[in-house]
Amino acid sequence: MTTLDMKNNQWTLAARPVGLIKDTDFKHSTAPVSAPKEGQILVRNSLISVDPAMRSWMNEGKSYMESIRIGDVMRAGGAGYVVQSQDSRFSVGDAVTGAVGVQEYAILEAKDATKVDATSAPLSSYLNVLGIPGFTAYFGLLEVGQLKQGETVLVSGAAGAVGSSVGQIAKVKGCRVVGIAGGPEKCKYLTETLGFDAAVDYKSPDVRKLLAVACKDGVDVYFDNVGGAILDLALARLRPRARIVLSGAVSQYNNTERGEGPKNYMALLMFRARMEGFVIFDYEARYPEAQAQLREWLAAGKIKSHEDIADSLMAFPSALRRLFEGANTGKMLVKLRDGAGAV
Ligand SMILES: NC(=O)c1ccc[n+]([C@@H]2O[C@H](COP(=O)([O-])OP(=O)(O)OC[C@H]3O[C@@H](n4cnc5c(N)ncnc54)[C@H](OP(=O)(O)O)[C@@H]3O)[C@@H](O)[C@H]2O)c1
Repeated sequence: MTTLDMKNNQWTLAARPVGLIKDTDFKHSTAPVSAPKEGQILVRNSLISVDPAMRSWMNEGKSYMESIRIGDVMRAGGAGYVVQSQDSRFSVGDAVTGAVGVQEYAILEAKDATKVDATSAPLSSYLNVLGIPGFTAYFGLLEVGQLKQGETVLVSGAAGAVGSSVGQIAKVKGCRVVGIAGGPEKCKYLTETLGFDAAVDYKSPDVRKLLAVACKDGVDVYFDNVGGAILDLALARLRPRARIVLSGAVSQYNNTERGEGPKNYMALLMFRARMEGFVIFDYEARYPEAQAQLREWLAAGKIKSHEDIADSLMAFPSALRRLFEGANTGKMLVKLRDGAGAV
């Protein structure tokens, strides 16, 4: 292996977390940067995507992806620029996204990297509305949820990356949208900035009543990002033939024991409803289709791409924790540099 005269700053997994992650679950270290081999590219990362799913990858045992081994670089998506290429499809200076890991430099197989146009949209959008969160919202709503114009959509985790795209896409599709989020400020953001029709603060002691008022005629599609007690409340508000889209269950990811299932599941029977989970990677072949449509809506000002950016690689553990503390609004990212910034 040929190494280059550069140092790679990295976060590796130091321990399997119990409950909410701690700084000591990770280790910061430096490693040599190796030169790319035939068919590979070397990427200098600019932005790292911080995702709730990271928490489940840190557990032992198999989920929809292998768990990360102790000592391995934390798995992460991200975006950056090619600094060396051993593949004819990529040139030095190309902007790319891919599974770069929580580190400064990444070697990627060229076939697994995606070239993006950082002149037509900011690089950060490709990790948000024009990337996995946007695709999750798009296919979750339109394919799994079979959304139709004029329907009522309820979405939890509504001020986060996936949730804010869900609500905005549903508005473009002519639906009534109700968002569930933690705290009055996020609720105000949903109605005043993103154009949702109503927002419900799930931290309010009156959440059940507030949800009943906001969804007084029932819900056709419930897009569930959080699971737990909120899923049960949503199940009580279904309309006949409702669809519940299981995107994630962020309220359960720090559980030390297996969480309980929904108590209200008989609502599915009563309302002839359907609940279906999905993993966005199954739609990979159709990402270009979703990106083209989302790009058009973004350029037309019909949807917004809002990111919450921590300003150094060192902030990674606290940035991940922010997702579970509800401290982020929009897509959580870690920035490594604006071209030439410090790590
Ligand atoms: N199925 C797929 O293929 C796929 C792909 C990508 C993401 N996802 C899922 O989509 C969901 C959202 O991901 P994201 O990246 O967009 O994250 P995000 O919504 O930007 O961040 C997580 C949000 O979850 C909320 N939250 C945290 N703890 C909570 C709790 N105990 N109860 C209720 N809400 C809680 C917080 O908002 P509040 O302040 O409102 O609490 C926080 O901002 C996750 O479940 C993720 O796993 C699924």
